[in-house]
Amino acid sequence: MSPFLITRTLPEEATDAALRADVLRGLTRTPKTLPPKWFYDAHGSELFEKINDLAEYYPPRAERELLIAHSADIAAATGARTLIELGSGSSEKTRHLLDAMPHLHTYVPVDVSESALTQAGHTLVEQRPGLNVHALIADFTTGLALPGTPGPRLFAFLGSTIGNLLPRERATFLSSIQSLLSPGDALLLGIDLVKDEQALIAAYDDATGVTAAFNKNVLSVINRALNADFDLDAFQHVVRWNAANERIEMRLRARTNQTVKIPAIGLTVDFAAGEELRTEVSAKFREPVLRRELALRGLELTRWWTAGPLYGIALARPSAPPTAAQLDTSRRLWAHDRSS
Ligand code: AVJ
Repeated sequence: MSPFLITRTLPEEATDAALRADVLRGLTRTPKTLPPKWFYDAHGSELFEKINDLAEYYPPRAERELLIAHSADIAAATGARTLIELGSGSSEKTRHLLDAMPHLHTYVPVDVSESALTQAGHTLVEQRPGLNVHALIADFTTGLALPGTPGPRLFAFLGSTIGNLLPRERATFLSSIQSLLSPGDALLLGIDLVKDEQALIAAYDDATGVTAAFNKNVLSVINRALNADFDLDAFQHVVRWNAANERIEMRLRARTNQTVKIPAIGLTVDFAAGEELRTEVSAKFREPVLRRELALRGLELTRWWTAGPLYGIALARPSAPPTAAQLDTSRRLWAHDRSS
């Protein structure tokens, strides 16, 4: 195997079709929503990099500290020969983990961005001459066709990106990863924790307005890709703590009554003054809640490292499938969450 391979399992047209479908569905329902994955065009990714440097946005620093402190532990506990990273982006946060795994055989970064994968892959094979890097251009929320690589395998989903999934999506995601795990394999998750409301709000509503620009960028993405005429200045960045569901929600509030045309999908959308479009949820967890949610999907939380009350890293392994009673509990929990 050559040291750097890249495989596309996501057809180019699939991205465009998915955007059209998401915009059509999200802007014709009440309340209006858009999935957060569309923030990340080149400009949005740049803004997200800036968010990562904000004083108010603690997750990247907390996660990096945890990885620096515990990567050796994670490497020893898993004995991984393959590391599969979901949503790897620049693979920046993974360096500490990779450095702690000198016997790693193959690294499989998975992302929808080909440019990020190519850049990260070339840097890595230079820095780690013995390491095989097999990048996958794929959307891990819609299924993964993984290359055959030696076990044990460690799946990593860092950056607290799991918080972007709604409860039902999280359930589907965890079940699909669980079904990929062989005995001896493990799943590593970066988990943002419930904390003081002020600190949470500040992390998503920074003083310099970078997050506001990031939020509005989703409208630019739709303008460009679908020929729409959103006026970014006609919307206001809004951040709310949804206490019932323990999640941050970013929204865009229409400043005035307005009509937006989206010709590429033949859609005209009316916004009333004050109407809010939800663009992102970012769920925050407590350890017992996470443990139960994993158990419901056949995963056992086996290790848990925290940076004080800020942030956690979870290591989970496949366990017995959930009982009928556990599944019933999960259905009842969802019944309370009307927005899921
Ligand atoms: C990339 C999902 C971790 O929810 O914190 C940062 C993205 N949104 N500021 C998050 C984000 C607003 C983010 N994740």
